[in-house]
Amino acid sequence: MNILVVGNCLKDIYLNLDSRTEKFESDKNHTKWLNLAFNAEEHFFFNRESSFGGAAVTLEVLSRLGLKATLTNSDLKMTPDGLVTDQPAKTYRYILIADGSPCYFAPSSHELTHFATPDDFYDYVYIDRSARLSPSSISKISSYLDLSKNTKLIIYLENQNDQNLNQLVPQADLVFYETKKPNLPPEKLIHVSETCLSYQNIHEKVSVERIDVLTHLSAYSIAAATVLGSFILGKSVEESLRLARINVENSFLNSTLNLAELQEISDKASPEENLELIAANLVLPKKGILAADESGGSIHKKFEQLNIADTYENRRDYRNIFFTTKDLENHVNGIILFDETARQFADNGQNFVDFLISRRIIPGIKVDQGLEKFENSEETYTKGLENLDARLREYYRLGLRFAKWRAAFEIRLDEQGHILTPTDHAIEENARILAEYASACQSAGLVPIVEPELVYDGNYDINQSALITGKILDELFRKLADYHVNLRACILKVNMILAGKQQEQQSTPEEVGKKTAEILKNHIPEDLAGVVFLSGGQTPEQATNNLREITKNGPYPWPVTFSFARALQDPALYAWNGDNDNTEKARQAFLDRLIANTEALKE
Ligand code: 13P
Repeated sequence: MNILVVGNCLKDIYLNLDSRTEKFESDKNHTKWLNLAFNAEEHFFFNRESSFGGAAVTLEVLSRLGLKATLTNSDLKMTPDGLVTDQPAKTYRYILIADGSPCYFAPSSHELTHFATPDDFYDYVYIDRSARLSPSSISKISSYLDLSKNTKLIIYLENQNDQNLNQLVPQADLVFYETKKPNLPPEKLIHVSETCLSYQNIHEKVSVERIDVLTHLSAYSIAAATVLGSFILGKSVEESLRLARINVENSFLNSTLNLAELQEISDKASPEENLELIAANLVLPKKGILAADESGGSIHKKFEQLNIADTYENRRDYRNIFFTTKDLENHVNGIILFDETARQFADNGQNFVDFLISRRIIPGIKVDQGLEKFENSEETYTKGLENLDARLREYYRLGLRFAKWRAAFEIRLDEQGHILTPTDHAIEENARILAEYASACQSAGLVPIVEPELVYDGNYDINQSALITGKILDELFRKLADYHVNLRACILKVNMILAGKQQEQQSTPEEVGKKTAEILKNHIPEDLAGVVFLSGGQTPEQATNNLREITKNGPYPWPVTFSFARALQDPALYAWNGDNDNTEKARQAFLDRLIANTEALKE
């Protein structure tokens, strides 16, 4: 693989002023200014370091990943001792550190990046963060790509307003961006500051704490170059992002990690730590989880009601509506899939799992295999523990990172209105099965969602719903403790507390909010990663209104959000009606529900 890196090699000069006594001077208005009247001797004594920056970082990262990269504009080369050049750097950048905070001083007029049309074939042209391209260079790159059909173009778009570079964006196969999202399909985009450095704030973690080893500018370059290199080496998107994060967290100036070192840290990362990270990312604030995991039987019923043919293609097209809805990643952290969907493909040929990962959405999977009646009983337990370990291992390999298991309980009343079911036996058995499943998930590297659902169907009142849900939760958390399930890497999916669907006295949103808050706060341990709600057959508006009231009754010790299936999907299903000419209408109906529910989380 042959990569041409288009960019400028810089020299970064670090001046650490923290040991100076007189860092600031005041003007007549008592405004403090950094005192720049230091002499060269002081620079020297108070820690002056320099390193290669800009495109040099990219060259270094790609070379250490074992890839062949060439820089335009520079004779910089990677040797076993690091980067070397015979030419003095043309562009300098100063990084001043005072009171632990960095300030960057870069010349206002950057040197333009010279681009000479190469004679050689390159598999990739990578336009680095440091590139400053003139219109004539842009048109040369564009013509080179037109001629060299198999060359892929990857762009780091630091500044959305760079009119010259923007002209190349439509030709790009992949674009890294920092703030404003370019208008490209999601699978072609990677948000560097948010996801390459996954799950942490680069400015806090890197700029300040590790300023002595890395600036946030080089961190961006390391992150993007590691993702790029890992992609080229055929790693999955998720693995590439993970390696990027490891590289940023462990590199020193001009000493990034090689592939073996990255891999070693990646392999050693504590599974526990990763699981907790995934769980935390599934319940990030103001977003929910979409349940799109209806089994073959459930989807058949949905389609049948609307006379939609239940074919493999229609099921794919239906799921595709949700996954390709604009802005989806701003409303959901994760999506639960059914086995068949996890093996189907998006329009661009990517499988759905990778497609969702490339949209920064965590894919999960339903792993239970439905309900079975206990002997001589109307009550049910959930099947699927047999072969579960092997299935989880395969799902992990496919890129799925969390799982769901649903147990169902019905409240049946006698003629006097006393509760007959669920019995203690059904509650205990299902709690035990849920705990066994959760423990198996955590061993296989998947975050378990445990879902004990008290079904909405029934004639019970809101107090009976509260009583039984509380009882189920108590037993569930007892069993999860018995099975040593790490609650910080586990999510509860539960019903709202409300009167049954056939009960005359339906619950108001205010009642649902108050009672649900009370039950959650009294029956759920504080170290759980999060609580999400199912909609259970409530109308979409009812579920949203109830969610809003539950939010109002917070704060809670854990994140609380939605994980609806029907209340998010049904309006889109009706709008689509099996006809792909209605896809756009269906996406809009879905987006409307997403917006309404994320708004309900903000109350
Ligand atoms: P509903 O929101 O339609 O209840 O579905 C949630 C779910 O995942 C049930 O297992």
